[in-house]
Amino acid sequence: MGIKYKIIHFNINDLGIDINSVKNALSFKSLAWDTNDIKISQLKFLARKFYNDKTVIFQEAQRYLDDRTLPPNIKKLILLLSEEDRQTFYAYKPFRKRSISRFIVKSINNQWEVSNIESPESTNFTQHPDSPSDLRKLKRRFPPMDLATSHSFILKKLIIRFVEMLCECEHERKIKKVEVTCHQMSLIIDNTINSVCNSPEGLHQDGSDYIVSALVIDKYNIDGGTSKLYCTEREEFIKSHTLNCGEGLFHIDRNSTIWHKVTPIKLKEPSIKIGYRNILGFDFNYIQ
Ligand SMILES: [Fe+2]
Repeated sequence: MGIKYKIIHFNINDLGIDINSVKNALSFKSLAWDTNDIKISQLKFLARKFYNDKTVIFQEAQRYLDDRTLPPNIKKLILLLSEEDRQTFYAYKPFRKRSISRFIVKSINNQWEVSNIESPESTNFTQHPDSPSDLRKLKRRFPPMDLATSHSFILKKLIIRFVEMLCECEHERKIKKVEVTCHQMSLIIDNTINSVCNSPEGLHQDGSDYIVSALVIDKYNIDGGTSKLYCTEREEFIKSHTLNCGEGLFHIDRNSTIWHKVTPIKLKEPSIKIGYRNILGFDFNYIQ
């Protein structure tokens, strides 16, 4: 571990946390499918097919994500699709399962305390991408983590270790309070599709002060999923690494020169028919 460009490539073992205890404490089995991905793929498909109507598609996009009823212009455009295109439109499947939880981390008498921000049903999550046509600016709703996970001692211990990294990278700020969002994600591939990707938007920033773009908790029967960090100042990739279980990348994000992406995953052994990559992602924003 070492800091270069405010990037820390870590293994949780070096933070005094055993990967097996994380696997045992955090269940990925009960995660719900992220259906936002289906709708976002459909909106992108429509925007490609009806390029001149892109503006109206983006204007109605939030309603499309929120409602069960179709917004009028999107409905009209779906009806204009050819039979073949309509089949493609309705064939998108979810490819990741996901939940989210938020925490406040405060320094009290020089000790970090982590408290849960409870969210009963679903949490709105928005990113702030640079490009106006990047659909991640839409408000997506994700279910909360199950209580055993969001209240687990081990998750809070991890969060404290990351806040310590944040202080190491930003020691002149004398940070006292941080909001942390944790994303629990399972990217799933089966034999009906060639590959799936956790950053379908390509190189991006998440819009937080610092992030753990990925901490890999478990992987099964996959190839790919290589994390790549690009430095806009140097105009080159400065890190490319396929994270193993227990490994992660902590780095600066918003207003920095560091952008990130991860390559798609494929089945390693196609005869097994299923593969997955389970990760945690974290967003850190200073409050004080
Ligand atoms: Fe990201």
